[in-house]
Amino acid sequence: SSHGEEEKKDVFQELLLTLPKERNWDGTFLYLYQNFWCPSIAMKAVVSFQQHFEARDTDIILASTPKSGTTWLKALAFTIVNRTSYPLKDSPLLTTAPHELVPFTEFDLYFKSQCPNLEDYPTPRIFATHTPYASLPCSIKDSECRIVYVCRNPFDQLISHWHFTLKLRRENVEPLPLEEGFEMYCKGIHSFGPFWDHVLGFWKASLERPDKVLFLKYEDMKENIVSHAKRLAEFIGFPFSSEEEKQGVIEEISRLCSFESLKDLEVNKNGSRPSGAPNNAFFRKAEVGDWGNHLTPSMAKRMEKLIEEKLGGSGLSF
Ligand code: A3P
Repeated sequence: SSHGEEEKKDVFQELLLTLPKERNWDGTFLYLYQNFWCPSIAMKAVVSFQQHFEARDTDIILASTPKSGTTWLKALAFTIVNRTSYPLKDSPLLTTAPHELVPFTEFDLYFKSQCPNLEDYPTPRIFATHTPYASLPCSIKDSECRIVYVCRNPFDQLISHWHFTLKLRRENVEPLPLEEGFEMYCKGIHSFGPFWDHVLGFWKASLERPDKVLFLKYEDMKENIVSHAKRLAEFIGFPFSSEEEKQGVIEEISRLCSFESLKDLEVNKNGSRPSGAPNNAFFRKAEVGDWGNHLTPSMAKRMEKLIEEKLGGSGLSF
């Protein structure tokens, strides 16, 4: 009823008033919600996602911090799962942005509606999320659904995020100097930060439940995409047959999903996301080590210290 909706809205507004708030890199806001910094535009969606999402055992959840290879992982997972439905030369990936094919819980599904109908998605449903492990809806953790997490070294993730912010910046917002972005990053104040907590949540889950959570690193994928695509396919229950391997299907899929192939497609050069982000903002350089062109030696040193301090002893390193 509209009365119920009103009440929900009030409860949500009251929640917002209780949360610590900071200015985000792009001039919007971040709320400290359940120990992570949630972009204001995603707040409502995150809460709805937590309240209403019902995972199915067959679901595939792609999780990540922003700017860690999400677009790539979406392209790969979609193509692997649907490879028998279309010949690769007619892949929907050639005409549809990866973010359309695999919607985000925060920026698509629960962004458009508080209680979207997710029943009609073909099985297996593939959804993406930036929500930290600790804050995922219970049904994701309790069901048999799979989670694939991709992370990236924090040096490059920070630089990628900084460029992305500059690109998304509204005209009336001053560009954020890197020094400021760096300071905020070190304090954990960035979209879905702190970075350390985000990666550690999924890292620990992957150690405790290796059949449930696959933990991937962007750098490893860059080094050998074929072996990682193969691993991904097995993990999500769509393994390549030896026949397919012989025919070079894994190589073909890896090529189709590569940065070079995707960034030049018309569909990825134009258009934008419901959140306003232009599709082309998701394709920049895709290099490992681009941070070297931006961070000063003293910034790099500080980041190294932080990595040691936050991740030391976890078995996770960059
Ligand atoms: P750079 O800014 O370093 O170029 P996300 O998809 O999580 O938003 O991350 C975006 C980063 O991944 C950007 O990094 C982008 O260029 C890179 N990227 C996008 N598509 C890619 C692909 N198919 N393969 C490898 N990297 C890709």
